[in-house]
Amino acid sequence: MAKIPLGRPEMSDEMIEAAASALRNERLVMGESVKKFEEEFARYTGTKYAISCSSGTNALQLAMIAAKVCGKEVLTTPFSFIATANAVIEAGAKPTFADSSERDYNIDPIKVVKAIQEKTAGVLPVHLYGNPTDMDPLVEVCRKKKLLLVEDACQAHGASYKGKKAGSIGDVGCFSFYPTKNMTVGGDGGMITTNDDKLVKEVTKLRDCGRVSRYVHDVVGYTSRLNTCNAAIGRVQLRNLEKYNERRRELAKLYSHELKGMEQVVVPSMGDKDVTPVFHLYVIRCQHRDELAKHMEAKGIEVGVHYPVPIHLQPIYKQMYGYKEGDFPVSEALSNQLMSLPIFPALKEAEVKEVCGAIKEFYWGK
Ligand SMILES: Cc1ncc(COP(=O)(O)O)c(C=O)c1O
Repeated sequence: MAKIPLGRPEMSDEMIEAAASALRNERLVMGESVKKFEEEFARYTGTKYAISCSSGTNALQLAMIAAKVCGKEVLTTPFSFIATANAVIEAGAKPTFADSSERDYNIDPIKVVKAIQEKTAGVLPVHLYGNPTDMDPLVEVCRKKKLLLVEDACQAHGASYKGKKAGSIGDVGCFSFYPTKNMTVGGDGGMITTNDDKLVKEVTKLRDCGRVSRYVHDVVGYTSRLNTCNAAIGRVQLRNLEKYNERRRELAKLYSHELKGMEQVVVPSMGDKDVTPVFHLYVIRCQHRDELAKHMEAKGIEVGVHYPVPIHLQPIYKQMYGYKEGDFPVSEALSNQLMSLPIFPALKEAEVKEVCGAIKEFYWGK
């Protein structure tokens, strides 16, 4: 075990009690806590609806099946967790890519506009590391060309763009509650947010075996519900989310302050008047990344690489679609240079300083 881990989920006595109480007193599947968690999540995100499901991948998959992208193409970023693009395939469509922006590492809206084809049915930006994508140009082009706009907000619970929360800007937002995310349900889980009455009806059926009513099914659905005890934990986590995010921002600010003036390291943006990030990850762009990572691990500091292989260069994507090196050069360069440093609400200031001290030792002792 690393002395300083990369991430650590919050799990308070109140959360454990909430789960135990749900197990003792509620229906284990689709209990009262599920309904309440969905209502509270929708209110928090600023959408009419929130529908829980079994994971972030599942949220993306169900949202795209409901929006009927099957047989078409969905344009996304090659620089994300592989689940983003996998969900497109699971929805029966083909993922296509537009390269990342050097500015914020999110999908580049200018490249999106150029990459839209006849078969494109939707655009799927990812708010990477909790830093919102520049959504205005995507909203505009999707409206103009009548394309579905799905936000992968799996890393961006509570982040905002021009006064709107991530997951409330496109047609549909998808969240993950995997344990290391900014909020968890104490295991896997997901949420779909939308204002669309038709779409919500479809995803509600799809996540519950295609049920219209107890014994009647009018689509081929899935067993994709969130367990009641997980929803009970999620409700308590959600009440604490703003506090957790504020703490992440404080820690990110401290990192950037400590690393100021190092020409070997580019620190992430702290946001501006339009964008409030939530630092799911604190990611630096750095020289000699792999050697630095080894140095950090030797010091007992866990670091990460999100992501060392862009999606288009994963063996299965090369095999299925014939992608090759050089197809998306910005994403490929980022995959060689980015490194994630430990960040989680319980991380201490002294630990941030220790991490930065180890980075300075690597470059300045070199
Ligand atoms: C950007 C992104 N999209 C999708 C997912 C998939 O979420 P899950 O692991 O809950 O299926 C994740 C999380 O792992 C993610 O970070």
